[in-house]
Amino acid sequence: MPERFTVTTPIYYVNDVPHIGHAYNEVATDVLARWHRMRGDDTFMLTGTDEHGQKIMRTAAAHDTSPQEWTDRLVETAWKPQLDLLDIANDDFIRTTEERHERGVKIFLQRLYDAGWIYHGEFEAEYCVGCEEYKTASDLVPGTGEYEGQLVCAIHSRPVETVREANYFFKLSEFQQQLLDLYADRPDYVQPEHVRNEVRSFVSQGLTDLSISRSTFDWGIEVPWDEDHVVYVWFEALLNYVTAIGYGVDDETFERRWPAVHIVGKDIARFHAVIWPAMQMAAGIPVSDHVFGHGWLLVGGEKMSKSKATGIEPRQITDVFGVDAFRYYFMRAIAFGSDGSFSWEDLDARYHSELANGLGNLASRAIAMVQKYRDGVVPDVAPVPEVAELLEASVTRADAAIDRFQIHEAIDQAMRIVDRLNGFVTEQAPWVLAKDDARQDELDAVLATLVQGIGTAAILLAPVMTRSTQSLWAAVGGEGEVRDQPIRSAHAWRGTGRVETIPPLFPRVEAQ
Ligand code: MSP
Repeated sequence: MPERFTVTTPIYYVNDVPHIGHAYNEVATDVLARWHRMRGDDTFMLTGTDEHGQKIMRTAAAHDTSPQEWTDRLVETAWKPQLDLLDIANDDFIRTTEERHERGVKIFLQRLYDAGWIYHGEFEAEYCVGCEEYKTASDLVPGTGEYEGQLVCAIHSRPVETVREANYFFKLSEFQQQLLDLYADRPDYVQPEHVRNEVRSFVSQGLTDLSISRSTFDWGIEVPWDEDHVVYVWFEALLNYVTAIGYGVDDETFERRWPAVHIVGKDIARFHAVIWPAMQMAAGIPVSDHVFGHGWLLVGGEKMSKSKATGIEPRQITDVFGVDAFRYYFMRAIAFGSDGSFSWEDLDARYHSELANGLGNLASRAIAMVQKYRDGVVPDVAPVPEVAELLEASVTRADAAIDRFQIHEAIDQAMRIVDRLNGFVTEQAPWVLAKDDARQDELDAVLATLVQGIGTAAILLAPVMTRSTQSLWAAVGGEGEVRDQPIRSAHAWRGTGRVETIPPLFPRVEAQ
């Protein structure tokens, strides 16, 4: 039986077009999904859009259009095209305005209501529409500029609004102990460590019940037993992970796909690792496998964001360096789980040193030598033991890194192969061996080693760089698609035994 791997991105607010922070999230999730597919796992990658709530309602109004028209337009012209642009191979795309989502949300909510987890009550609280979240005093900071003298949301730097309504509440407070037990029993449930600590300390301070409906606007899903209320946008959005896979309507698919792994930004880890598991426990479904909270892309030391005008669109980068380099750079340069600053200089430097000079040069030199010295036929001999051992060890280490969500470590293992092979060429000097009739066996071993190593690196890098690895694979005699190769035995691949010339994989980019 193949193992199940269901992995999700957050669903994105479509109040604006995507920036590289959203792309970062999509690419990382896609790399994990592609890796698991190459393991042979029963993989399913889900992404989508979060379309209800006040933020979107107000944005649509500001553009003189209805929320539905607004979200339709943004999804079709910006969010879905971004997936194509970035080579994201998602298996499904869910919009929270779809009928399947609405139906599943209502079934889930009714079950919680019938089981006594929901009650009606009065309340007053501070709300940030940017976050779509109720805030406590500790979430607020003194404002600056036009908001001098007021308290503002620490993330959006804008004042919060006071909500005073009679709403429905979810008995979140009753789950404190069960959540603490969950974090203790399953230390790898929330990752990385610092996000887990943050979540645990938040829960240990005590939980209050959560308002899960609003009655002062109607852009949302109706509460099934009270048509005057719509469901709180976050409560409903979290349910996308189960409504997309048949919750309440298609038990077979649901059992096959659930539970899932959630890849989210650390700013929304609390929703995923506190509210969401409590909802799952209340509904009697298994708790998600893992919640991984990655870091932020920073600009000027702050979380990059469109609302603060620090947003960079993916196309600005892919137009210059290509999609593979985009995907490689963000996965390679930032330890997954930590914050990272984007810089054009760093991207340019890594592109030229690691991709063009490192991987690209290695491939073109090795292929040229097999053509020159052996007419394009790869000598049918074993790679030298020292390199063969490195290949196998790197594959094992890279694969283990993926289980810890350490994507940058997996890439590092592949790039160590590239570095070692470049060193190996210099040490072995095949051009010297070629001139010596007595050393033709050595030359055979060197060429076979290079080809085997390049093929291995192509397989390990295939989840990250979908295009250039396919060219590389075909060039060293790999058959079929590189993405169909079993990644756990990448070191032991066999090909046609012939090499082909390839155009430069990573052409030089002139400084702009
Ligand atoms: N709609 C909610 C998620 C609901 S999931 C049930 C939401 N949407 S969002 O569009 O604001 O953010 C989506 C994701 O993008 C989040 O994981 C967030 O952390 C991520 N990022 C937004 N800006 C980012 C950076 N500057 N850097 C890295 N990730 C960033 O929250």
